[in-house]
Amino acid sequence: MKTFYTTTAIDYTNGKPHIGHAYEKVLADVITRYRKLCGDDAYFLTGVDQHGQKVQQTAEKEDVHPGTYVRKTTKNFTKAWSALELEYDGWAETTDNEHKACVADILQKLYDEGQIYKKQYQGFYSVKQEQFLTDKERGEDGEFGPEWGEVEERDEENYYFKLSEHVAWLRSFVEKSEDFILPAFRKADVLNAIERAEDNDLCISRPKERLRWGIELPFDEDFVTFVWFDALINYISFAGYNKADGSKLPDFDKLWPADLHVIGKDILVPSHSIYWPCMLHAIGFTDEQMPTLLVHGFWNMNSGKISKSEMTAEIAALTDPVSLVERFGADCVRYYLVRDIHTGRDSNFDPERLVMLFNTELANNLGNLCNRGLSMTKRFLNGATAASDYDDDISKELREQAGVTISAYKEAMDRYAVSEALEVVIKYITLCNQYTDKQAPWALAKDETKTAELTTVLGHLTEVVAIVSVLLKPVIPAACERIQNQLKATFLADVNISDLKWGMIPVGQEVAKPKPVFPRISLEDE
Ligand code: ME8
Ligand code: MG
Repeated sequence: MKTFYTTTAIDYTNGKPHIGHAYEKVLADVITRYRKLCGDDAYFLTGVDQHGQKVQQTAEKEDVHPGTYVRKTTKNFTKAWSALELEYDGWAETTDNEHKACVADILQKLYDEGQIYKKQYQGFYSVKQEQFLTDKERGEDGEFGPEWGEVEERDEENYYFKLSEHVAWLRSFVEKSEDFILPAFRKADVLNAIERAEDNDLCISRPKERLRWGIELPFDEDFVTFVWFDALINYISFAGYNKADGSKLPDFDKLWPADLHVIGKDILVPSHSIYWPCMLHAIGFTDEQMPTLLVHGFWNMNSGKISKSEMTAEIAALTDPVSLVERFGADCVRYYLVRDIHTGRDSNFDPERLVMLFNTELANNLGNLCNRGLSMTKRFLNGATAASDYDDDISKELREQAGVTISAYKEAMDRYAVSEALEVVIKYITLCNQYTDKQAPWALAKDETKTAELTTVLGHLTEVVAIVSVLLKPVIPAACERIQNQLKATFLADVNISDLKWGMIPVGQEVAKPKPVFPRISLEDE
């Protein structure tokens, strides 16, 4: 089965991705790499949202053409994603011509079918959220709250998508679907929002005198497309929907329906859970062709918000993904971002915890296990694994717990609970270090009558190192590759998780000279 993971596009107001963006992309990357480890043919699409009012405004402030501005900011995103070692298969830039053609085709089709109409509207408009407001958006005091920013009155003609015609379908789809929204506790928010959406159609155009930086409506050159209607379509346009002959885009039938759209909680309602499924439904997608939305939580900082509009310069500097990678390495940042948050929940970004978790769980715990296993094999067994009696009693728990660990890891990863999966592996590594302390191979090596025990213990250690290097690979790929190189067991790079078991390391396997895989880090060094 083909799987298709995609994360949301990003827009630019500060020109660079922040740590919240980095988290979302790393999470999707980890999930994709895990599916590949399971033998699935997985596809990861991500990209950047390049149109809209805010991009136009920022470009004006910097006195450059919006096209120049987005080229510059897009580079900041691709630079950060390569620093974080993201392996995406598809890259979505919404100013791409094939995307624009796909959006225009969809608009024309919906217009021809009477799903889009023009009307005069007088009302309030939030510049910050780029949308018209109704009385339902007013707070209890009758005012529009601070989340809407500056609100202006507008009287203008625009094009509307008949969202209201799809709301009854959406309500029953959301009610009966078991997995449209993950985690399930978010479903109530969506059902509430559906009640509010009921009798409002969606304004999908902006007059060119206000906004020029967008996709022109194919049936009226005086208007461009509302940025969400454009951006959401990236999930199908870059998957090859309606692609032209000779296009290099993938085959849509192979990639759709998307298994997951990985998104943050702030863009669940209304864009991803209301506009998007109604757009797909209007285009002709069936219930079975709807994606699953994996809704993650937010990284916050005690001292303030991490968001492109409200971040302070101080927080931006503390959390900048590229400088964090430069200071601590990609593995460390990737590990922290998926380790110290429960998928779906919020977490507090804390550089001290980043350092602490890396040092205790990776440098000390895993690093120690690798170092002991490899260096003692080198020293006491002339650098090659020896035949060992795997049925001995002292090591029974270690063997049994390997199987338990692999199943628990898979069970957690299948629920996208990456932090829980890591915790299971770390617990197992702790057990293995305790086993090493207890068996004390350095003492066995001094006693000639204990050679059998020594080879058994060291055989177990190399086996364990091999197993955990496979399990941790989706999260810390570079470190796991180093471990596998030191084991000289490069075949592990292609191993499928279902083939993971005892006895993978053949007898006589030579190991390389061990080097520390995770040098300790500290906050003060720089
Ligand atoms: O919403 N912690 O773009 P965006 C975790 N262009 N995730 C966070 C976060 C934080 N502190 N701050 C933001 C947009 N995010 C649109 C998407 S989709 C077709 C168009 C997440 O740059 C946020 O929830 O504001 C969203 O999923 C992603 O980063 C991009 O946010
Ligand atoms: Mg946002």
